[in-house]
Amino acid sequence: MTKVIKNGTVVTADLTYKADVLVDHGKIIEIGPDLKGDEVLDATGCYVMPGGIDPHVHLEMPFMGTYSSDDFESGTRAGLAGGTTMVVDFCLPNQGESLLDALKRWDNKSTRANCDYSFHMAVTWWGEQVFNDMQTVVQERGINTFKHFLAYKGALMVNDDELYSSFNRLAELGATPMVHAENGDVIAELSAKLLAQGNTGPEAHAYSRPSQVEGEATNRAIMIADMAGAPLYVVHVSCEESHEAIRRARMQGKRVWGEPLIQHLTLDESEYFNKDWDHAARRVMSPPFRNKKHQDSLWAGLQSGSLSVVATDHCAFTTEQKRYGVGDFTKIPNGTGGLEDRMPMLWTNGVATGRLTMNEFVAVTSTNIAKILNCYPRKGAVLVGADADLVVWDPEKSKTIAAGSQQSSIDYNVFEGHEVKGLPRFTLTRGQVAVHDGDIRTQEGHGEFVAREPNATVNTALSKWKELTAPQPVKRTGIPATGV
Ligand code: URP
Ligand code: ZN
Ligand code: ZN
Ligand code: ZN
Repeated sequence: MTKVIKNGTVVTADLTYKADVLVDHGKIIEIGPDLKGDEVLDATGCYVMPGGIDPHVHLEMPFMGTYSSDDFESGTRAGLAGGTTMVVDFCLPNQGESLLDALKRWDNKSTRANCDYSFHMAVTWWGEQVFNDMQTVVQERGINTFKHFLAYKGALMVNDDELYSSFNRLAELGATPMVHAENGDVIAELSAKLLAQGNTGPEAHAYSRPSQVEGEATNRAIMIADMAGAPLYVVHVSCEESHEAIRRARMQGKRVWGEPLIQHLTLDESEYFNKDWDHAARRVMSPPFRNKKHQDSLWAGLQSGSLSVVATDHCAFTTEQKRYGVGDFTKIPNGTGGLEDRMPMLWTNGVATGRLTMNEFVAVTSTNIAKILNCYPRKGAVLVGADADLVVWDPEKSKTIAAGSQQSSIDYNVFEGHEVKGLPRFTLTRGQVAVHDGDIRTQEGHGEFVAREPNATVNTALSKWKELTAPQPVKRTGIPATGV
């Protein structure tokens, strides 16, 4: 049975034009005027865009003594409600665990997904097993992105020697390293000092992670990636120092991408100060929310193209879980939600304010990341042959964000009370209508894993550069005798 999306305006990363879109068997089969189909979805007054891709989520993730509360079912349902049709979750191996065993756990959890999904692999420890498993993960499991934590000392953090070895291996395999760039050693020192001074509340979390720790780690990761001949994707860029490092690297021709989060773009550090404990703790995440100077820098990065992707880092904990940290801010589980609100919040604060064009909106919520992840144009495109992961966006539809009406399973929302204008009329996941005007019709288990090939082009270019700068043996005469 075919479906036709009629009377809408197609908006892609580079074009805006009137056309109908015909869908069959989960794919876009025709785009043009006056198309006919078995079922008609009316898009009058709406924009027909590629569904959002959120490349940074943590669903049912074991972390800081608990599990993040949204699983693949509630998380993807929340995503679809807000126009997101694909998520990428991080597979986290335990210390000493093979990457392939960890993937089995992620395969089990993800069978409940309502929309398509993929995985990044996290490099949480280093050894021969990881080195060997990487090849299987890239070549047989279709995972070409590997995350490294420079923070969370004593848990997920990897050191520079491990980082360098891993980046070299990934360059060889045509995979892209990612980093959570915060200096974990400095954070540990600052945290201990703050606790010793009696600063135990959630605001101390922000004091323990000044923007310099992020700037330092971003610069370090960029330099190490450069030495390894690897591209680099920096997750949750929250400050000018980190953005500056990314901007500079890109100007030098390095393949470095930065990902700000919708939370950092729209919420600031005042959320931690002069607020009750629960309010502040619910907003504890790493990196923390920052001041307006940093927010302006992130918006400028999206406008100029020096920052490429807007994500959520959706890692939702209930108030009860946040309270594990009463008396010690370092025990507050780090993370905030955002999956349902990313697209409406970015539209409202970006497109409706004139900061972003509609085409830029599509680029930073979908198309750019589809290209970086190497799943374009199957995802991130309105093109014949692409998956019919689409959002029919109604720019006039508005609501006030409220935990009481959200899909996420937690008991609050960090955007509570924010007015958004711009919401999905329809969200389609591979041709199935999952959302119609707020009516949720998701189907548990509908989501499929999206395998992604290694990126041969990037790797070849950088390997060539590596060869040119490889050390050459120098012939010398008159070598002094040893022992002189
Ligand atoms: O605070 C955060 N960001 N929690 C999720 C894990 C991570 O660091 O991405
Ligand atoms: Zn059919
Ligand atoms: Zn992180
Ligand atoms: Zn994260």
